Amino acid sequence: MIILAIETSCDETSVAIIKDKKVLSNIIASQIKLHQKYGGVVPELAAREHSENIPTVLQTAITKAKIKLSDIDYVAYTNTPGLVSCLHVGKIIAQTIALYLEKPLLPCNHLDGHLYASLIEDTWTFPVLGLLVSGGHTQLMLAEKHLQFKVLGQTLDDAVGECYDKVARMLGLPYPGGPEIDVLAQKGIVTYKLPLPKNDNTLDFSFSGLKSACANLIDKEKEHIQVNNFATSFQTTVVQVLINKIELAINTYHPKTLVLAGGVSANKGLRSAVLKLKMKYSNLKIIVPKLEYCTDNAAMIGMVASYQIENK
Ligand code: KG4
Ligand code: ZN
Repeated sequence: MIILAIETSCDETSVAIIKDKKVLSNIIASQIKLHQKYGGVVPELAAREHSENIPTVLQTAITKAKIKLSDIDYVAYTNTPGLVSCLHVGKIIAQTIALYLEKPLLPCNHLDGHLYASLIEDTWTFPVLGLLVSGGHTQLMLAEKHLQFKVLGQTLDDAVGECYDKVARMLGLPYPGGPEIDVLAQKGIVTYKLPLPKNDNTLDFSFSGLKSACANLIDKEKEHIQVNNFATSFQTTVVQVLINKIELAINTYHPKTLVLAGGVSANKGLRSAVLKLKMKYSNLKIIVPKLEYCTDNAAMIGMVASYQIENK
């Protein structure tokens, strides 16, 4: 069974070919350079760039997978959530190919996609607890069976990726700021005191208070700010609150598998803190996807489609 999967929800144009849940190709054209000069993603430019890039990305994915267009059995695409004008580009291409090949079209949820990235090279035992941390979302989710994730808790304001990007911008770092802060955080020590945001007995998150605390501190310190130490202090605070909430969810719901998902799961500090939980919860399977499957990609959408077909 061969699935062609398309992802265009934000600023990565991606096409993947998945055969029997194995990735034959996963081509990603990033638009980061285009949006960097604006300090964030400009939706109309992103949509235009998707339509410019998609023919080449599609051709490359098919060539690399060593298949013919006529070998495709299903066409999957991200239908929500995302930037509407960007999602439309992927949808139109998917619909056109499905119509031409007379094959079924499978709309897939982008957030499911991030969670299913962990199945590319691993397996789950239910119940599965997922921490989804991206530019637009911060959620703890639980599933007893496939494609039935329930939200246990989520951010009441900013997403963690958004907080990273905004704090990086305050420091004059380029977009996207998450990876920039992550690199600097490896070089410093914790010296700045920042509040642990919404460190309470609920599974919800809040990052706007931390963002304001960072703005005040950066404004106060001005050119005296020790950027590496600040990055380490910030990252330690964020990781600590994420780990506290994961542990609260583990102790409440007793999952058998923990999955890290979304762009921020590429973060070195978070990855190693999550993997360390293994020492405390030895019966818990912990999956931290490979870096190329953490940020937006079409392979993860193809995985959702694979399980949609199997669970019909
Ligand atoms: O999942 P994703 O590619 O797109 C969305 O669906 O939002 O996530 C993008 C977010 C951005 O906010 C980016 O700064 C953040 O993921 N990110 C990171 C790292 N790599 C990407 N944040 C912290 N550390 C990283 N290494
Ligand atoms: Zn995403």
